[in-house]
Amino acid sequence: MGPGDLSALIAPLLEETTPSENVLVGPGTSDDAGVYRYGDAALVATADFITPVCDDPHRFGRVAAANALSDVYAMGGRPLFALNLCCFPTDSAPRSIFAEILAGGLDKLRESGTALLGGHSVRDAELKFGLAVVGRADPGKLLTNTGARPGDRLLLTKPLGTGAIINGFRGGQLSQEDLEPALREMEKLNDVASELALAHGATACTDVTGFGLAGHALELARGAGVSVRLHVRQLPVHDAFDRACAHGVSTRGTRDNAAAANEISGIRTMSSRDRQLLFDPQTSGGLLITVPEKPARTLLADLRARGHHAAIVGEVLEGPARLRIA
Ligand code: CO
Ligand code: CO
Ligand code: CO
Repeated sequence: MGPGDLSALIAPLLEETTPSENVLVGPGTSDDAGVYRYGDAALVATADFITPVCDDPHRFGRVAAANALSDVYAMGGRPLFALNLCCFPTDSAPRSIFAEILAGGLDKLRESGTALLGGHSVRDAELKFGLAVVGRADPGKLLTNTGARPGDRLLLTKPLGTGAIINGFRGGQLSQEDLEPALREMEKLNDVASELALAHGATACTDVTGFGLAGHALELARGAGVSVRLHVRQLPVHDAFDRACAHGVSTRGTRDNAAAANEISGIRTMSSRDRQLLFDPQTSGGLLITVPEKPARTLLADLRARGHHAAIVGEVLEGPARLRIA
């Protein structure tokens, strides 16, 4: 699920759908994926596609697949199988480019142990690629948006800033060298982070994508009726984000996210750079995890030992549901 939230349009339709006791997570909690009980297991279902984030079609395919798979990991699931979703400008670009995108996607499916079952393609003026993914989870160990408890620590597993960096690269203000570290992070699966979160008793989890860190932190706050405090100085950030800001680069998503953000205190006294950072839409972003205070340090150490630029970025307080910026 992503930006341009259409939930207000979809809500009336949901009341008319057949309710099922097998729906464990539906569209009502802004979760990363839907979850359906199937026998003893829980099936986790999601779909996601994106526009290009770089010039290399193979690497774009890798990022798009990692981004789509991430919603399964953010629920505490493991992907089982996937379908390609292709909107390709086949009239204006050579077919070899699309073959490269698909090969990049397949790279990540192999790495994650996900079977490709097929897909669907349409001709489209604007290139988009992604996946519909079905995964499996333990119904007793789902990482939804509703489990955060006062006293929990908040961890983030990847640096922020990809929205402004991608736009800066597209607009020529940033170089391929500037983009490279962000690209490597966007290609990275959230599989290990999800595994470690489950192993350390995480109470809630979501991946940081189109609504930016502030938007997704608010989802965790609303889901559990708690208040979330974020420490801006502790946020992991790509160096190139500040270079993008210095060039005045922002994104449409940043504006939309800031306009949609209610229930946030401390925002008026922030620098414009910090505000840009909090609302910057992420592609294939990290997991935002809440975990009790005790295991938070060991979770952080394990994440770092496995190559994650992770940090403890805040804590969960008593409600009402809001976000406090410190
Ligand atoms: Co999504
Ligand atoms: Co998500
Ligand atoms: Co989740």
